Amino acid sequence: MIIIKSPDEIQLMRESGRVTAAILRSLEDIVKPGISTKDIGDYVEKTILAHGMTPTFKGYNGYPAGACVSVNDEIIHGIPQKSRLLRSGDIVSVDIGATWKGYVSDAARTYAVGEISDEARRLIEGTEACFFEGLRYCRAGCRLSDISHAIQCKAESAGFSVVRDFVGHGVGRDMHEEPQIPNYGKPGRGPRLAKGMVFAIEPMINAGGCEVEVLSDNWTAVTADGSLSAHYENTVVITEGEPELLTLEGVL
Ligand code: MF3
Ligand code: CO
Repeated sequence: MIIIKSPDEIQLMRESGRVTAAILRSLEDIVKPGISTKDIGDYVEKTILAHGMTPTFKGYNGYPAGACVSVNDEIIHGIPQKSRLLRSGDIVSVDIGATWKGYVSDAARTYAVGEISDEARRLIEGTEACFFEGLRYCRAGCRLSDISHAIQCKAESAGFSVVRDFVGHGVGRDMHEEPQIPNYGKPGRGPRLAKGMVFAIEPMINAGGCEVEVLSDNWTAVTADGSLSAHYENTVVITEGEPELLTLEGVL
């Protein structure tokens, strides 16, 4: 069942989303060569707590940190580490969640560290473009898989591949609610979207093949072929008109 949120519930998610958005924005100036993935995780966690919110990921199924920080061929769920120092040329995806009065916002960006290759830049921008292509179908009356299909077409037309082992999802009181939202598939399938649904749309796009492996830490998902991967995610409300992005803008 897809839970429809009331205006009051959406307001709490909006408040949470503004902090999430602002943290992701501030990371644009913080992510630099020499910083460790732990520094990033700690900054995210501290800033969420400073706003009276809870880092949603910490303790979720035993996850040990307040953010996922995934470098280069790491797709998602990278665990922040003191010894993992970013270098110029890396790309790093940061995924964060904040819980405010029981309601979750969930979003991710991929950042360039120093100077990156044209191919890496194209992947980061292409992944963001996949999200916005999917967003065009985040409208009452569309079918769920219209979003999936749009993302897949955009990714593949740029020569990239879509990760299939992880999906977007409904979000609200729980970080992961129904429905699951794959980033691939045929259009015109699944439930019709309705006002008050809230989704985390999150394309995970690889420069090479779509195959995934999970490292021995049982969290970090990497590309099987070692190719670069990017991630871009926002929490999106379905309305009667334009979708509302809860995690795009905010100030700390
Ligand atoms: N944005 C991710 C998701 O939607 C983050 C979950 S990480 C976890 O699944 F550690 F909390 F599981
Ligand atoms: Co998510």
